[in-house]
Amino acid sequence: MTFLACRIYKNESENNSGNNQINHRLEQMDLQALSDGDVVVRVHYSGVNYKDALAATGKGAILKRFPLNGGIDFSGVVESSNDKRFKSGQQVLVNGCGLGEVHDGGLAQYARVPADWVMPIPEGLTMKDCMILGTAGFTAGLAIHRMLENGQSPDKGPIVVTGASGGVGSNAVNMLSGLGYETIAVSGRREFDEYLKSLGATKVCSAEDLKLSNRPLDKGIFGGAVDSVGGKLLSQIMAHTNIWGNIASIGLADTHEFEATVFPLILRGVSLLGVSSTNCPMPLRRAIWKRLGDDLKPQHLNKILTDEVKLKDVSPVFEELLNRKRFGRTIVNCL
Ligand SMILES: NC(=O)c1ccc[n+]([C@@H]2O[C@H](COP(=O)([O-])OP(=O)(O)OC[C@H]3O[C@@H](n4cnc5c(N)ncnc54)[C@H](OP(=O)(O)O)[C@@H]3O)[C@@H](O)[C@H]2O)c1
Repeated sequence: MTFLACRIYKNESENNSGNNQINHRLEQMDLQALSDGDVVVRVHYSGVNYKDALAATGKGAILKRFPLNGGIDFSGVVESSNDKRFKSGQQVLVNGCGLGEVHDGGLAQYARVPADWVMPIPEGLTMKDCMILGTAGFTAGLAIHRMLENGQSPDKGPIVVTGASGGVGSNAVNMLSGLGYETIAVSGRREFDEYLKSLGATKVCSAEDLKLSNRPLDKGIFGGAVDSVGGKLLSQIMAHTNIWGNIASIGLADTHEFEATVFPLILRGVSLLGVSSTNCPMPLRRAIWKRLGDDLKPQHLNKILTDEVKLKDVSPVFEELLNRKRFGRTIVNCL
């Protein structure tokens, strides 16, 4: 049996610039050619995350082997299983665990994965909801979970969400507002003010509007942050975080670089929390997905879903996402 997949190749022969070329193509492939696993899933939905776009365009070194189907997450229906925990017809999801990095991913009509990676669709969510959230929503949930575990509370002050119009940002804004937090949505694109307010942002502004200082420690004005951007903005937010606030570092949409001093950490007890979705241990991953269908469930998933494309039409989405031409979440219908 053959099916459609978004397969990423590396051209090992040197091109004119002397670099190896990585790119993707939509092509038919055989089930037998998929990475090994106990469970074969008919994929219904996948999504386009920042990492998927970096992987498919070769703009980031995401894949550890080639060729490979892209897609770091999917939801779908079990076609067959060699593992007793799963039965054909069961609705499931997989995110992270090396999917779309070392193992054929979710941007395909079928995936074959180790049973240990597979989770039943959580109560409170549909297969489609799971991919509106996707790795972006999972990561926002993981960040907020870590902040709450570390003592975050609304009385510490507003939470800044950077890269707010993106997948992680939109989900984080909606989740935090649902939990009763004041939320400052920081976006470089003013056209999304109304969108972000409709997700529950108390205030929407640009990074410049925040008028943050360059001093290593300054007036405490934020309770914490969910940061998708990195760089100078992250350092400045840290310097303005109130005592015992938590900052979850998620992404590098601006840059992976980050310079700071220890002052916020040692003089205010501020915590900088790492958030890594790929290798999140399975018990914690299951607990986060359970919460995503319950107390962390964004109330406006319908607004966060800004586009649904067919698998055959996914190619242009990668560049558009990297070029900041999209907002919210784009899901991929693989049926
Ligand atoms: N740690 C993890 O496990 C994990 C998991 C998922 C994602 N991530 C990372 O988190 C980040 C966001 O991912 P995503 O899927 O939400 O991507 P996304 O949907 O493309 O959102 C990224 C947002 O960042 C802002 N942005 C883009 N380019 C920027 C730039 N040059 N400078 C400043 N802001 C910029 C934009 O928001 P505005 O236009 O509103 O400013 C954009 O919408 C990425 O860096 C991704 O790699 C990490």
